[in-house]
Amino acid sequence: MPVWPAEVIAALRSAEHVAVLTGAGVSAESGIPTFRDALTGLWENYRPEDLATPEGFRRDPRLVWSWYRTRRLRVGTAVPNAGHRALAAMERVVPRFSLVTQNVDGLHERAGSRDVIELHGNIGRVKCFDCSRIPDRFDDTEALGHCGFCGGMLRPDVVWFGEFLPPLALSRAQEAALSCDVFLSIGTSNVVEPAASLPWTAARHGAVVLVVNTTDEGQRFGERIHHLTGLSGEIVPALLRAAWPDLLPI
Ligand code: APR
Repeated sequence: MPVWPAEVIAALRSAEHVAVLTGAGVSAESGIPTFRDALTGLWENYRPEDLATPEGFRRDPRLVWSWYRTRRLRVGTAVPNAGHRALAAMERVVPRFSLVTQNVDGLHERAGSRDVIELHGNIGRVKCFDCSRIPDRFDDTEALGHCGFCGGMLRPDVVWFGEFLPPLALSRAQEAALSCDVFLSIGTSNVVEPAASLPWTAARHGAVVLVVNTTDEGQRFGERIHHLTGLSGEIVPALLRAAWPDLLPI
């Protein structure tokens, strides 16, 4: 196990507000490939612009629908890992806990996290391409779904390249970074804005920041930033136990 930076453990124990930003690395141990890694096999001849942009959807909605159905099926068989579960447990011991994710796989909710700020949406939901209504349910066996209200085509309720993030989710994430005592950045390459700036924002406002990643890539954010290299499914549960030794095993 890593040598815990004493400042991080003390700050977690006394924190009124802990904010967490997760990326694809948190779900890697559940077998969910990152977006770019997923472009393999049948999909290796496609570019992200073909499958994750409004233009790509307009060009070939059935192709995009099929791509997201493939990903939904993969996510449906995935199981939240110990990293997801540890974050759900941390939410229950911290007075205020903000979990911000760039992932669209819904594994945080399935691990028991109750209030997840989904910056990039969720592939388990669809919305109308024309009127943006979100149906309660949809038939995933169809080649392409249509809105029951306006008849428009249904698309995944995720943020595509070139689209704006959901304003409420973004403002909640930025407020969390501004007001937290501890900020944990877990399993993200920290390159896609505006999420990439959140750890900077937290550090500038005096939070203790810990970056957990399998590589030591990514920017170091300054003198108050700690970096632990390893698997989130190992480090996050161990961090939870180090900060709250009396907690029942997750
Ligand atoms: N534990 C911790 N970190 C891990 C693990 C793991 N088991 N496996 C991989 N990582 C790290 C990688 O080293 C990498 O830095 O997770 C990071 C994943 O980076 P990306 O694949 O870029 O995913 P993410 O940071 O979530 O990307 C942000 O970009 O691809 C778009 O919209 C997509 O939401 C995504 C956004």
